[in-house]
Amino acid sequence: MRYVSVGDVPRKRHTDFYEPGGGRLAEELMGEQGFNGASSLLYHRHSPSALSSVETAEHEQPQMHANHPLTPWHLRLGKLGGGGDPVTGRIALLASETLTINYFAADCDSGLFRDSRGDELYFVQSGRAVLETLFGTLELGPGDYALIPASTTHRVVLERDAGPFQGLVLEATGHIDLPARYLTQRGQLKEGAPYSERDFRLPTGPLLVDGVDVDVLVASRSGFSRHRHVSHPFDVVGWDGSVYPFAFSIHDFEPIVGRVHQPPPVHQSFEGPEFVVCSFVPRPYDFGAGAVKVPYHHANVDSDEVLFYVSGDFMSRVGSGIEAGSLTVHPAGFVHGPQPGSVEASRQADRTDELAVMIDTFGPIKLSEAARSVADTAYVLSWGAVRGQ
Ligand SMILES: [Fe+2]
Repeated sequence: MRYVSVGDVPRKRHTDFYEPGGGRLAEELMGEQGFNGASSLLYHRHSPSALSSVETAEHEQPQMHANHPLTPWHLRLGKLGGGGDPVTGRIALLASETLTINYFAADCDSGLFRDSRGDELYFVQSGRAVLETLFGTLELGPGDYALIPASTTHRVVLERDAGPFQGLVLEATGHIDLPARYLTQRGQLKEGAPYSERDFRLPTGPLLVDGVDVDVLVASRSGFSRHRHVSHPFDVVGWDGSVYPFAFSIHDFEPIVGRVHQPPPVHQSFEGPEFVVCSFVPRPYDFGAGAVKVPYHHANVDSDEVLFYVSGDFMSRVGSGIEAGSLTVHPAGFVHGPQPGSVEASRQADRTDELAVMIDTFGPIKLSEAARSVADTAYVLSWGAVRGQ
C-alpha cells in the first residue's frame, strides 16, 4: 500500500522522540521480508516487548480431509450456526497449503489477537463491527473487506444492534496484496484498475488505551500462545509507512464488462501466496450480438475454485439450490459451468445483481468436518445430463 503517516512521528527516523509532557517514545519497525520489504514505524508510549507472562493457549486445530473422491461441493454455511467471537469462534472450512478459509457468525467481541502466521482478510456478509488495531480503528459493515497485516495486534468489537456479524476470514501463510498488474512501477494504482486509492479506507487514529497486564492471543505456526503485556498494546501515538490494516468495500469495485463474456481475472481484487480473491458485483451483462451471458463451462486445470454467494440473484446457478450464504468448491479435474437451462433463461436479462466473492487456490483444497456437515449431497449431480446447455 501507499505510504501514509498518522498521528505524531519524529522528523527523522531512529532519533529521540518525546511525547509532549511525557516520556521518551519507543520506536518499533514492523517490516516484511526481513528489512527489505514494506514496513511501518510505530511510536509506543511503552515498550511493546514488555511481557509479564507467556503460556500455551488452548486451540483445537481442525482436521482437514482431502477432497477424495474428487467432488464439487455446495456448502450451506447458514446451517453452521456459529456464535462466539470472530477469532476464537471462527470455523475452519477449507484449507490449502497456503490458505485457510474460515466462516464466522459472531455474537460477541473478540479479545486482543495477533496472527503471526500471515495476513488475514475479512469479508463481511452482514452485521457491523469496529476493528480496533494498534494503527487505529476501522469501521466495518456489509460488503467490506478488511486486510490485517501479519502480527497486527487487534480486536473486533461488534455493533450490537446491527444483527449477527458474519462472513469469511481468510488466513494466509504470507502476505495479501493488491494485484501487481494493477500498479505502476512507482506503486500507484493504474487508471485501468477496478478501484483507486480513494476506495481504500485507512485506520483513523491514533487509538490509545490505558491498561496493565493485558492478554493478547498470539497465533503462530507452532500453535496458540497467550502473551500478557505489562501495558496495553494500543499505546501508539503515531506511525508511518506502508504496512497497515485497511478496508475496501466490494460495492466500490468497478466491474469490467465486454461485448462477450469477460474471464474472472477482470474481477480480481487481491492476491496472496498461491491464491487470488475476486469480487463479482452487479453489472450489465455482455452486450454483443449473440453473446452468451452466463459463464461458459470451464476447467481451471491449475486451481481449485471457491465461490461465496453473498447476496442477489445467481442467474447461472438457478436450479442448483445455491442461495445467499452458499459456498461452492469446484476443484481442478472437474469441469464446471452453468446450470441446465440458465443460458436460455439469461437471454432477456440485461444485467446481473449477483454479489459474490471468489477465491482460487493454486494448490488442492481440503475440507473440514464442519464443511462436510453442511454439504448439499445432491449438488454433484445438479448439472444433470441436458444436452447443449
Ligand atoms: Fe468457475
